[in-house]
Amino acid sequence: MPQGVQNEELKLQAEQIHKAFEQEFERFVHLTSTLTTGGVSLSEAEGLFVELDEFEKRVTGKKSELSALKKMVGRIAAEDRAAFGQLIQSIESNIRTKLSDTRLALEAFIEAARTERDRIDVTLPGTRPKEGHLHPLTLVRQKIENIFVSLGYIIEGDREIETDFYNFDALNIPQGHPARDPQDTFYTTDGFALRSQTSTVQIHAMQRRGAPVRMIAPGRVFRRDTPDPTHNPMFFQVEGLCVDRGITMAHLKGTLAEFVHRLFGPETRTRFRPSYFPFTEPSAEVDYSCFNCGGEGCRICKGSGWIELGGSGMVHPNVLRAANVNPEEFTGFAFGLGIDRTCARIYQLDDIRLLFENDVRFLEQFR
Ligand code: DAH
Repeated sequence: MPQGVQNEELKLQAEQIHKAFEQEFERFVHLTSTLTTGGVSLSEAEGLFVELDEFEKRVTGKKSELSALKKMVGRIAAEDRAAFGQLIQSIESNIRTKLSDTRLALEAFIEAARTERDRIDVTLPGTRPKEGHLHPLTLVRQKIENIFVSLGYIIEGDREIETDFYNFDALNIPQGHPARDPQDTFYTTDGFALRSQTSTVQIHAMQRRGAPVRMIAPGRVFRRDTPDPTHNPMFFQVEGLCVDRGITMAHLKGTLAEFVHRLFGPETRTRFRPSYFPFTEPSAEVDYSCFNCGGEGCRICKGSGWIELGGSGMVHPNVLRAANVNPEEFTGFAFGLGIDRTCARIYQLDDIRLLFENDVRFLEQFR
């Protein structure tokens, strides 16, 4: 090939390479021009940056057409070499400048966009954590506990699964008593009873502490009842026990009168009705005058003016004996009341099952 033709050929090639670059680069020019107007997202810009990198290597790398052409400079006739060299140089510098300008623009944009993404505006309002509160049963239990603690009682707790001894025998409940019937009491397959009353803790407390003792024991009890508005197979009671030398029924009456004064107000009256419980003798049911109507009769006390508090009595000598307390030396009184029922009265609930559904829309009312 004559020298002149070859020179022309190479010049043409150089111009084609330049033109091909400009064509492909057009896309980058277009996209980077929209950076400032928000036309490109951060992830698009990051993608574009990778593509630009790859494009740059292809156009200016060792294996590029441009590199191949540069190697031809030596073959060009001496008189044309300088001019060709200059052409190639100016094409290369144009390509490199454009690529690096675009790279800089993209880099600046990406950095700014990342900063913006990670920015935290400390002046924005936060999301307030939902504030919890105590369950109404817990509120009532704590009120009861506070009153008795201030009267000098300790708070006891004990197991919910019991042997027949604690659930029945020690409480002077004879064999064949209906309370022992599996229709009334839940039994485990190996013969233990789910305690049906907190009175079991009387025995544990006296065995542990001996006499004298003054304690209350709040806790769960279980009975085979079909749930209805006033019954639940699991509910809460508070047991009370006071054993000392010379304790009489007057102490029982005075203590429960003081208790209802503190829980419902000093105007509250009490009433004791004779009753029967195997573990007390004599026994009495305790009522208090309605905190709502004061005894006139209203919806809450169902027109009677009185609300039932629970059972009570003088601890039966057999019970003291079962717990190794000498009934010749010590006497005592005991009482048991339902927390759920008291809670339902205080908050005027028509259905105690609401207390166990854990529906926050209901519970929220009792903050
Ligand atoms: N345990 C009885 C019940 O569940 C309540 C009770 C009555 C407890 C008289 C006592 C008491 O301590 O002396 O119905």
